[in-house]
Amino acid sequence: MRVVITRRIHERAEEILRDAGMDVFVNPHDHTMTPEQLAAAVQDADGVICMLSDRISKELLETAVRPRVFANYAAGFDNMDVLHATKYGVALCNTPDVLTGATSEIAWALLFAAARFVCVGDRMVRAGEFQGWGPLLLLGHEVCGRTLGIIGAGRIGCAMARRARGFDMRVLYTNRVDENSEMREIGGCRVNLDELLRESDFISIHAPLTADTYHMIGAEQLAMMKPTCVLINTGRGPIIDEKALAKALRDGVIAAAGLDVYEREPVVEPELLTLDNVVLLPHIGSATFDARESMAEVAALNVLDSLTGRVPRTCINPEYIRHARPHH
Ligand code: GLV
Ligand code: GLV
Repeated sequence: MRVVITRRIHERAEEILRDAGMDVFVNPHDHTMTPEQLAAAVQDADGVICMLSDRISKELLETAVRPRVFANYAAGFDNMDVLHATKYGVALCNTPDVLTGATSEIAWALLFAAARFVCVGDRMVRAGEFQGWGPLLLLGHEVCGRTLGIIGAGRIGCAMARRARGFDMRVLYTNRVDENSEMREIGGCRVNLDELLRESDFISIHAPLTADTYHMIGAEQLAMMKPTCVLINTGRGPIIDEKALAKALRDGVIAAAGLDVYEREPVVEPELLTLDNVVLLPHIGSATFDARESMAEVAALNVLDSLTGRVPRTCINPEYIRHARPHH
């Protein structure tokens, strides 16, 4: 059976698949395929390991009828049409858990960097503009003892909260469903979004991108935040209205922001690039050696599960099985 990996990833995936006797094709180019290239590459595959930048659309699922499984090399899966994949009996998978630590750590890195102008300071020193210690130089916001608001209490949101205990922070959170038992154990307090926006000194987004969370943070929500608030997004860009955020940062509606994700990646709202109170990272939340190796392993095992007649271990749409067709 043939497995296509749409971009070169950690070699562990290929190793696992070849050891299991699979014929593996890896995109030799280090860039995202166009929709046409993707459709052509996967049409004679039985299984696919795809990236969050690949759109697994209704059209793709209709043109490429052979693959029985698309294993996303990511935790988020807003790039996949879950409804249609299920209808066509195609298994979709993600890589949860293994990137929880890495992503919560990049959120903390952004939080501190934004609160203390770490990147502005670095740029200043490199530019030869450091003229010695100054009593009023780059004053930032202290983290310890403050309130952290977490939007989305899934695995990463909870990991973020757990680490906040080390800084004696009060944790507020919002969640779609019920009170979260892990959050309760950590001491987090569930509130509604308005209350979280008003009370938090730091806000970190860990919700998935869905129709409900699209532009969940816009001009109105930014205006509810404290003027000293620092906003962090390591989830998905479109959860924030990026133009409204740029305006809020420029006008001092909030103090600072740290972003790892953008509305129209790889495009970044041009005004953000001109502002010193925002730290901008190139979507590297899961980019640690450990996480990427484990993600390769989980993605490969998901494909193997499917191609050996099992429901994949981290399947997003286990209901696909009711519509599943036999393999070629
Ligand atoms: C990264 O953004 C992921 O969803 O894994
Ligand atoms: C700062 O460098 C201090 O010593 O207070």
